Amino acid sequence: MAQNGIVILDYGSQFTQLIARRIRARGVFSQILPWSATRERILESKPRGVILSGGPASVFEEGAPTLPSDIWSWDVPVLAICYGMQLVSRDLGFEVVRVGKAEYGRTSINADVEHPLFHGTPKEQTVWMSHGDSVRSNGKSTGMQVLATSTSSELAAFHFPPRNVYAVQFHPEVQHTAHGEKIIENFLFSVCHCERNWSADSIVDEMVREIRGQVGDGRVICAVSGGVDSSVVACLIDRAVGKNLFCVFVDNGLLRDGEREGVVSLLGTHLSAPLEVVDARARFLEALHGVTDPEEKRKRIGKLFIDIFEEVSTKHGPFDFLAQGTLYPDRIESISTGGPSVTIKTHHNVGGLPKNLRFKLVEPLALLFKDEVRAVGERLGLPQEQLRRHPFPGPGLAVRLLGEITEERLAILRHADRIFIDALKEYDLYDRVWQAGAILLPVRSVGVMGDARTYSFPIILRAVTSTDGMTADWADLPAAFLRDVSSRIINQVAHVNRVAYDVSSKPPSTIEWE
Ligand code: XMP
Repeated sequence: MAQNGIVILDYGSQFTQLIARRIRARGVFSQILPWSATRERILESKPRGVILSGGPASVFEEGAPTLPSDIWSWDVPVLAICYGMQLVSRDLGFEVVRVGKAEYGRTSINADVEHPLFHGTPKEQTVWMSHGDSVRSNGKSTGMQVLATSTSSELAAFHFPPRNVYAVQFHPEVQHTAHGEKIIENFLFSVCHCERNWSADSIVDEMVREIRGQVGDGRVICAVSGGVDSSVVACLIDRAVGKNLFCVFVDNGLLRDGEREGVVSLLGTHLSAPLEVVDARARFLEALHGVTDPEEKRKRIGKLFIDIFEEVSTKHGPFDFLAQGTLYPDRIESISTGGPSVTIKTHHNVGGLPKNLRFKLVEPLALLFKDEVRAVGERLGLPQEQLRRHPFPGPGLAVRLLGEITEERLAILRHADRIFIDALKEYDLYDRVWQAGAILLPVRSVGVMGDARTYSFPIILRAVTSTDGMTADWADLPAAFLRDVSSRIINQVAHVNRVAYDVSSKPPSTIEWE
């Protein structure tokens, strides 16, 4: 486990993960822990500094998150952001006031650029504020060094040397804070004296060592999907303990055109371990026969996948470990105070096997963000085309084919999808969208082909921009491109006489139609 980095205590800010990513992008390891984590957990990795994130609460609310009671005995520099600044200020006896009008958005500040935190930034600079309370220096603030004030003369940043604490009222991690990256860099290197030791090279070496330590002589089974995460997991484990690894790829018949061949050829050249390809197309089609309800589709696909996985692991076992592509964002303990969440969609993929399978888990990516997984994949020699692939849902085309799933309808969808994706690459648009695909509807509409009337199915094109799939916006693709794709699909794909483009964002829509 990486050491000597930065621990971020999460107070619920929507930007907490961004802070971690900004720090890692500077070559320093950072991890996120809930504000209520124990002293032992927080100090376990021997952090060089601690950051208190912002959060939606107000220190005046009852039951609001608090400062760790022994924080001043940790003997590390603390950077307190937004809500963190208010917490620290209250603790130190400074005056925290409720301002009538909350300050949101871009604000201009005047900074003390002689101070190490603002060194290398301009005196007047734009920052991003989002707060309702504010801090004032008062009689008790002797020793407080004011580092920045906003144009409305609010205190925007201070340093309190007796406690080795730095506080900023704005969010240095967001793009709208013009010199935020420099301020974070100053905290990391001038204040905390961190070393740049978090890189794809060091991550790969460390993971290989850790996998060897964890797995020893045990045998590992790894389900690969052809996606970025499972491919990187398989390659990492292969490098660590290749002779003990066994990979499985299930062809569920719900894949894209050429996907199975692609996975076999990619992993065939990158793995020393055996890859078992299970042709389960007929079994999935049979399990989905007559099913139109989206949740029922997902449940049947998930169950059959697990059955097949169990069969393979019995046949080729015994195995001690199951490899999973869990990423860091899935592992961060949410401190959200929202109510119980409802199931929007039952998600199941190779990363969603039930915990009661009798294997121990190997999750080599559990500390990584997606961009870091790509960097590791690159370091392992996986081709760019693989690493830039769009996400693809575990239940595959089943959730893009509304109504009953039949071989004929899958063939229509696969063909249209192929044309759409190929055209995105041809027009150099593939990397500009987060995810794209075609959807086939179970209704027909009237058209005219030559002199004849047609009564055929519509294809919907969906392409979205997003950073994490949690929210998304429809991609503003050029009209000339859409026109070209539409005519290619209508001319080339049998039983399709209409193409529409989905202009819905998430929320309130979702990315997949089912
Ligand atoms: P939605 O449709 O919920 O999708 O907006 C968000 C992201 O999740 C993907 N997705 C899935 N991925 N198993 C997966 O591995 C699933 O069951 C599943 N359902 C949706 C979807 O493609 C998008 O990237």
